[in-house]
Amino acid sequence: MTAVLGARDVAIDLPLPGGFLARRQLNILSGITLSVDKGETLALVGESGSGKTTLARAMIGLLPVSAGVLEFRGQPLSDPACRRRLRTEAAMLFQDARGSLSPRVSVGNAVIEPLAIHRRPRDRATAGRMLAKVGLAPEMAARFPHELSGGQARRVSVARALALDPALLVADEPTAGLDVSVQGEILNLLADLRRDLGLALVLISHNLAMVRHVSDRIAVLYLGRLVETGPTDQVLARPAHPYTQGLIAAEPNPDPRKRRDHPAITGEIPSLIARPRGCGFASRCPFAQDRCRAETPTLRPLAPGREAACHFAETMTSQPIRETIP
Ligand SMILES: Nc1ncnc2c1ncn2[C@@H]1O[C@H](COP(=O)(O)OP(=O)(O)OP(=O)(O)O)[C@@H](O)[C@H]1O
Ligand SMILES: [Mg+2]
Repeated sequence: MTAVLGARDVAIDLPLPGGFLARRQLNILSGITLSVDKGETLALVGESGSGKTTLARAMIGLLPVSAGVLEFRGQPLSDPACRRRLRTEAAMLFQDARGSLSPRVSVGNAVIEPLAIHRRPRDRATAGRMLAKVGLAPEMAARFPHELSGGQARRVSVARALALDPALLVADEPTAGLDVSVQGEILNLLADLRRDLGLALVLISHNLAMVRHVSDRIAVLYLGRLVETGPTDQVLARPAHPYTQGLIAAEPNPDPRKRRDHPAITGEIPSLIARPRGCGFASRCPFAQDRCRAETPTLRPLAPGREAACHFAETMTSQPIRETIP
C-alpha cells in the first residue's frame, strides 16, 4: 500500500532573520524519514523549537523542502500537479485556531469557504451539516470568531479543514490552551473522524498523555532531527533514546503504574545557529560519553518498526527491546 504521506531524508533550511542580503540559511530540519498510512495516526512530539510546525507546513505543501523528497500518495510534492492535489486532499489545523479564522468572516462562511474556493456544490444547509459533524449547533453559523470559546474555535477549524474530504490532516497542537475536558472532546472528535473518514492524521503535541491515548506511532524530534520512532505503546513503555526518556519523566501526571525512573531533562536546548558537534542532545544527556560529543548518531533500526539515534540505544532500555516485539 502506498503511504498517504512519505518523507525521505527531508531537510529544510530557512533564511536567517536579517540574513537575507547575506543569503544566510539556517538548517531547521534534516534527515527526516517517515510515513503515514490511511487511517493511521502519527504523533510528532518534541520540545518547543524542535521543528514540528516547520515540518507540518512542508507536509501540506506550504514550505518547500531544501533536500530530500516529500511524497503525497507516491507523488513528489515538487511536482506542481501533486501540490494542486494537496490543496484539496490535505488540510492543516493551525496551532492558533482562533487566529487562523478571519475575524470578519462568520462561522458559516468560514466553514464553506473551501467549497466556494474550489467551486464545489453547496446550499444553505451545507454549513449546518458541516458544523453538526464537529458537534456544533447550526445556529453557530451566524457567530463570529471573537464570540467563540477556545473549544468552539477548534471545532470550527476542524469543520473547515474537513470541508473538502481530505485524505491527510495535519493537526498542530489541536488541544493547546483548552481545558482538560475540552481537550478530551477534541481528541475524541479527531479519533472518530479518523476512523469514520479513514484519514491519515499527523498529530503534533507536547502532551504525551494525549499522544499515548490516540496515536499508533510516534516520531520524536529534537533540534530538527528524528531521535526515535516506533509504535507509540512500545516507545513510551521502553524509550530507547534518553531524550524520549526525559520527555516521559517530565509528564505532569504520569500514570503511577507506568511511571519509570527516567532522569528528567535539564539544561538549555542548544542554538540551531551553533549546532554542537556530535549528538545534539549530549550537552543535556545524563548518559553522554566522549563518543557522543564526537560522533553524530544516525537514526538506525533497533527492532522491526523501531529506530533511535543514540549510540547506546540498546542499553537505554531496561529490558531488551526485541522482547517487546510480538
Ligand atoms: N520563517 C522562519 N525563519 C527562520 N527560522 C524559523 C522560521 N520559522 C521557524 N523558525 C525556527 O525554526 C525552529 C523550529 O520552529 P518550529 O516553529 O517548527 O518549532 P515547533 O517545534 O513547532 O515549536 P513549538 O512547540 O513552540 O510550536 C525554531 O528555532 C524557529 O525559531
Ligand atoms: Mg509549533
